[in-house]
Amino acid sequence: MAKPKIAIIISTTRAARFGEKPAKWIYDIASQRDDMSAELVDLRDYPMPFFDEVASNAWVPSKNEVALRWQKKVAEFDGYIFVTAEYNRGVPAVLKNAIDYAYPEWNKKTAAYVGYGSVGGARAIEQLRLINVELQMAPMRTGVHIQGADFMAVWQQGKDITELTYLQANAKDMLDQLVWWTNALKIARDADSKK
Ligand SMILES: Cc1cc2nc3c(=O)[nH]c(=O)nc-3n(C[C@H](O)[C@H](O)[C@H](O)COP(=O)(O)O)c2cc1C
Repeated sequence: MAKPKIAIIISTTRAARFGEKPAKWIYDIASQRDDMSAELVDLRDYPMPFFDEVASNAWVPSKNEVALRWQKKVAEFDGYIFVTAEYNRGVPAVLKNAIDYAYPEWNKKTAAYVGYGSVGGARAIEQLRLINVELQMAPMRTGVHIQGADFMAVWQQGKDITELTYLQANAKDMLDQLVWWTNALKIARDADSKK
């Protein structure tokens, strides 16, 4: 079976964002594995307006050009790692907007999470897990959370995430789960497509 294709989604877009650092960190770890192929996907490359279609693309094809390009990109992958902050204890609006702009493209695929912030993005990630279920996705149990003093050290004091060595085992655990579930769902989707 071909290696599963995993998108690592940089889920914040503001000019001063921190998000690309943890995204590149997990990308480097994922790229060293031979059981998946990883690609960074940056929401900055998909500047969509606040949702302005007549319906979800589950029901009516979208008109917005960037949204169509985004849907095509999402469709390329078998699973996704959302690298996210939390904004006021929730999912960053730009990420939720991007998620809402696709539907069938997410279905029967996997979701994993790398969060950062005072509590490692945990509250946003719990919300994301619920959102992902509505999109007919399988959310992974284990997330990676860069939090507390460690987050402050990498965010404000120039510490490198690779120095947080305990995160390595945590990331491996999450990626192992992601590969298992992604392969299982890929086999099931392939069987469906042959019916
Ligand atoms: C609008 C806003 C709301 C925030 N709310 C939270 C929060 O609820 N919890 C938290 O841990 N950090 C919060 N922060 C701080 C972020 O963790 C920190 O700014 C982080 O760098 C944001 O991710 P980004 O740089 O990728 O945009 C908030 C930041 C912003 C800009």
